[in-house]
Amino acid sequence: MAEKRVAFITGIGGQDGSYLAEFLLKQGYQVRGMIRRASSPNTERILPLIEQYWESKNPDVKSLDSPFFSQYGDLTDASSVRSLLEEFHPDEIYNLGAQSHVAVSFQNPLSTLDINLMGTMRILDAIRDMKLPCRFYQASSSEMFGTSQPPQNENTPFRPQSPYGVAKVAAFNAVRMYRDAYGIFASNGILFNHESPRRGINFVTRKITMGLAKILVGKDRNIVLGNLDAKRDWGFSGEYVEGMWRILQHEKPDDFVIATGETHTVRDFMRESFALVGLNYENFLVSSDRYKRPADVPALLGDSTKARKILGWNPQVKFKEITKMMIVADLKDKFEKTGNVPIERGVMRDDDYYLGIGRDLASKLRKS
Ligand code: NAP
Ligand code: GDD
Repeated sequence: MAEKRVAFITGIGGQDGSYLAEFLLKQGYQVRGMIRRASSPNTERILPLIEQYWESKNPDVKSLDSPFFSQYGDLTDASSVRSLLEEFHPDEIYNLGAQSHVAVSFQNPLSTLDINLMGTMRILDAIRDMKLPCRFYQASSSEMFGTSQPPQNENTPFRPQSPYGVAKVAAFNAVRMYRDAYGIFASNGILFNHESPRRGINFVTRKITMGLAKILVGKDRNIVLGNLDAKRDWGFSGEYVEGMWRILQHEKPDDFVIATGETHTVRDFMRESFALVGLNYENFLVSSDRYKRPADVPALLGDSTKARKILGWNPQVKFKEITKMMIVADLKDKFEKTGNVPIERGVMRDDDYYLGIGRDLASKLRKS
């Protein structure tokens, strides 16, 4: 019987890491992950996988034979990176671990560079030094394009506007350099913004959908935002992880843009979210300089023709569907936590059911 392929994911506990782990397990991979030690739980998104493959449930299966297994490690710790590579012997490495918040990178520029650039270098150099016969995927970002005019593709110049962007551009170049200099199969996925119900709560889309759910259950009165005019090309994380995998299945290492080809402003996302429950967003929006950045990326719109043609990757989930998916998930979560769920549900789908309750609560808000 053919050996199972082993995939190693840094940042496995993040939004993308959790979807990628699920996707690769379905493809029959053995999935290994690096988890950073934290004082409170940072594995919530992969809890179902941890529980499914928990040692106590599978006492006869050794950790290293289990389909899913994660270990503590840190991208800032070269020895932990090396130990995990020695232990797992991966066929494919997906480097998703990062300080991924652009605004935070202005406050913590050096640690952002340490994790996002040096962390990438630590893996690449270990692959070189250990002569690992593996493929390497780097989570590059549309934030690298900065002020370059949209639409952006693989030939668009990088003009980063943040320490995060600077780190990602340098890491992108490191990937190319290790590919050219040492023949390592190392590829960049230049992913435009992608969201999901698992998105971190301080990114703008989730801040809005969670904020709306809180307003509806009476836990908050408004949402405070910074730059409303920024345009983003928002896709669905659950689909983008397949793009990552396809990039590593290509016959040669290369760089690909992954995007939907649609762009919308932050204001559009706010308007669409509130309109879904019949509210006017303007009555719930507070604008504050607190959430404005020293420099921002004005407009992102990806041209992923290359990925469509060469990899056959085609996104199906676009702006309206993502907004709805995230709102329904946050309404469900809030209603369940506050006991705000009537028992009679019949055969209604989640979308209709939770949006229906959301609209009822919204109409009460309008009256009060
Ligand atoms: P995320 O939810 O913030 O996940 C990042 C993961 O990296 C978390 O599990 C985090 O662990 C881990 N991490 C942070 N510092 C680490 C360190 N020093 N050592 C090891 N792990 C560390 O981000 P995401 O949205 O899934 O994004 C995944 C990757 O794609 C990131 O590299 C991001 O920069 C890049 N990217 C994202 C997008 C997007 O729109 N989502 C677009 C382009 C590129 P903790 O939970 O402990 O913090
Ligand atoms: N987070 C946040 N919070 N952003 C706000 C707010 C707010 O209160 N108000 C306005 N914005 C604006 C930001 O200024 C930015 O222009 C836009 O909303 C999107 O912000 P984020 O959701 O934080 O995402 P990002 O585009 O900065 O970065 C994300 O996408 C990159 C790819 O382009 C992250 O996922 C990065 O890791 C990723 O590389």
